[in-house]
Amino acid sequence: MMIRKEVVDDHDGVRAVIADAFSEMGGPSEGGGEEIAIVDRLRDAGDLSLSLVTELGGKIVGHVAFSPVGVCVGKDVADRLLARGGESSDGDDDVLGSEMMNLPLNKREMLKLSGLYDADSEGTHLQSEQGAEVLLPGVGMCLGPLGVRRDLQRQGLGMALMMEGLRICKEKGVGFVTVLGDPNYYQRVGFEAASNWQLDGEFGGGVSDQEHAGALQVIELVEGYFERLLQGRGGLIRYADGFRGS
Ligand SMILES: CC(C)(COP(=O)(O)OP(=O)(O)OC[C@H]1O[C@@H](n2cnc3c(N)ncnc32)[C@H](O)[C@@H]1OP(=O)(O)O)[C@@H](O)C(=O)NCCC(=O)NCCS
Repeated sequence: MMIRKEVVDDHDGVRAVIADAFSEMGGPSEGGGEEIAIVDRLRDAGDLSLSLVTELGGKIVGHVAFSPVGVCVGKDVADRLLARGGESSDGDDDVLGSEMMNLPLNKREMLKLSGLYDADSEGTHLQSEQGAEVLLPGVGMCLGPLGVRRDLQRQGLGMALMMEGLRICKEKGVGFVTVLGDPNYYQRVGFEAASNWQLDGEFGGGVSDQEHAGALQVIELVEGYFERLLQGRGGLIRYADGFRGS
């Protein structure tokens, strides 16, 4: 078994493993169609910051995606954004701009910041063709989707993928990682409820979501990150566009 970064030839294998992993899940995840679309959209937009696969016998049997998130700082800002489904209106731009911790949401933006942006390539080809990753210090990342082929589940592959992803993120100086899922699973690697930091998420599970309490989780990779960022004010985690559909 080998965990490695996705390369161009892996795209179909990644889709296949997601389809298999999610094939028996009920609800909107049934068959993994939405998860596949999310990964494809993230990749197309240059927001698939880190994509790891588990290879076994020449086949991809596991996959995890990491994409950038932003944090709108302030519980009041979070409440306003949540009330309108996460969309800001033009009139709010000044307010939101001043309140928002400006974590870059898009790989192109990150590349510009890092001086690596290549206007000719539109920034989006760098990852797939050259394997360049964009995990700059201080950003936040969303973990997911995560999937392991059904016949190989419960053998530690999911854990191993997650740990390797977190290790790489930490090594690159990523500030924190967030995940939306079952706390019983993710707490094993050190995730805690985002509500501990008064954080909400664009897709729920945070401090304001009683129904899915504890589902939105975070792990600090830089010590003191949330203390410095939030200063007790809470906020809203916003995802890359790929999660919002086309
Ligand atoms: C979730 C998933 C990635 C876990 O991968 P895995 O390789 O099966 O998990 P691991 O072997 O690393 O860990 C297994 C342990 O986690 C637990 N576990 C696995 N999936 C779990 C879940 N969804 N919720 C809670 N616990 C879970 C198991 O009970 C097991 O614990 P045990 O060893 O004490 O019995 C895999 O089950 C999967 O692909 N599921 C379908 C897709 C999915 O739900 N993805 C997550 C949301 S994006």
